[in-house]
Amino acid sequence: MALLRRVGLPLLLLLLLAVRCGAVRNCHPSCHCEVENFGLFDSFSLTRVDCRGVGPGVSMPVAIPLDTAHLDLSSNDMGQLSDAALAGPGYTTLISLDLSSNKIAKISPSALSKLRYLESLDLSYNALESLPPSCFSGLPLAEVDLSHNAFREFDMAVFAAKVNGEPVSVDLSHNRLASVSATLHGRALNIQSVNLSVNQLVNVPSMAGLTLRYLNLDANPIAKIKKGAFAQLKDLVYLSLSGLGELREIEPHSFKDLQNLQVLDLSNNSELKRLSPAVFCGLDSLQELNLSGSGVTTLPTNMLSHLPRVKSITLGQSIHCWRTQKQGQYHRQTGQVRHDEELHCDVEGIVL
Ligand SMILES: *[C@@H]1O[C@H](CO)[C@@H](O)[C@H](O)[C@H]1NC(C)=O
Ligand SMILES: *[C@@H]1O[C@H](CO)[C@@H](O)[C@H](O)[C@H]1NC(C)=O
Ligand SMILES: *[C@@H]1O[C@H](CO)[C@@H](O)[C@H](O)[C@H]1NC(C)=O
Repeated sequence: MALLRRVGLPLLLLLLLAVRCGAVRNCHPSCHCEVENFGLFDSFSLTRVDCRGVGPGVSMPVAIPLDTAHLDLSSNDMGQLSDAALAGPGYTTLISLDLSSNKIAKISPSALSKLRYLESLDLSYNALESLPPSCFSGLPLAEVDLSHNAFREFDMAVFAAKVNGEPVSVDLSHNRLASVSATLHGRALNIQSVNLSVNQLVNVPSMAGLTLRYLNLDANPIAKIKKGAFAQLKDLVYLSLSGLGELREIEPHSFKDLQNLQVLDLSNNSELKRLSPAVFCGLDSLQELNLSGSGVTTLPTNMLSHLPRVKSITLGQSIHCWRTQKQGQYHRQTGQVRHDEELHCDVEGIVL
């Protein structure tokens, strides 16, 4: 407090926020290293190393400063990730690592095992078809990008070996996935977000046992969504099922377990022509329904009784409907003003 009185609050804030960058020891000549100092008297520092495109000739592990927090090794033609490639000094403190665009086709089982603080891993734009089952063992991962690879099947159980119970977000979009599973044998798996868009899935994969909040299945060749497809996903808040070019049918009660779902994107499903009211059973929290660009042009009558919380529905090309309250009517018996709610659309002649 004495210090605060002497230097004054603005100066103290300035000291706390000051970021200084200086020359860095042990930086590979082809890389760009930067130390950011912050905190009072620069008591904290964070080293960021950029070794993008330093070339296929460079020997791994690339020399990086001790206590590096963020490392970008993208576009280096690494081909395969050996056990030694990431085992140098400075690697154990990494919080984020970018290995994208490296033509990596294979990761050896212990290649990542030294990265005990790694939270964010980018392996996008590689040639991966599989991962060793225990390659994430002991890592505190929170974000893993595996998009734009060559996976045909994927078992979410690979994330069961990571440490701490922190939730992880996984991007598996733009692969060739025909099958996604989660062989958990009773283990819990705290995965909060899975992006499976642009794959070859013909069915909604079973995600039972995952604590998912976000799921994206856009642009897959799914023709039919079956009753119980989203069983046990009671934490799901956001579900995207857009651009399913072959989707013709959603069975009644398909979304029954999704009692916490707030956003359902069914847009751009041109072959989907009708929806029975029972499709919406159980969507007690749904606020936003997007049917724009789908073949569905009218909605089941009495929509609000099926979707008690809905605020906005989009359909057709750009027809937007939202919840409104009818003129309040004085109710003689209860002595209260009763508000009847209805859906109001910005186009005449919509039957709801
Ligand atoms: C999922 O992947 C698609 C396609 O790559 C992308 O457009 C979308 O933003 C991703 N969603 C999230 C939440 O990352
Ligand atoms: C609609 O879906 C198709 C098929 O998945 C996709 O190619 C197209 O880009 C989507 N259009 C929009 C506007 O999202
Ligand atoms: C509905 O989906 C379309 C196409 O994917 C998108 O352009 C539009 O912004 C969405 N509307 C709402 C209200 O989310």
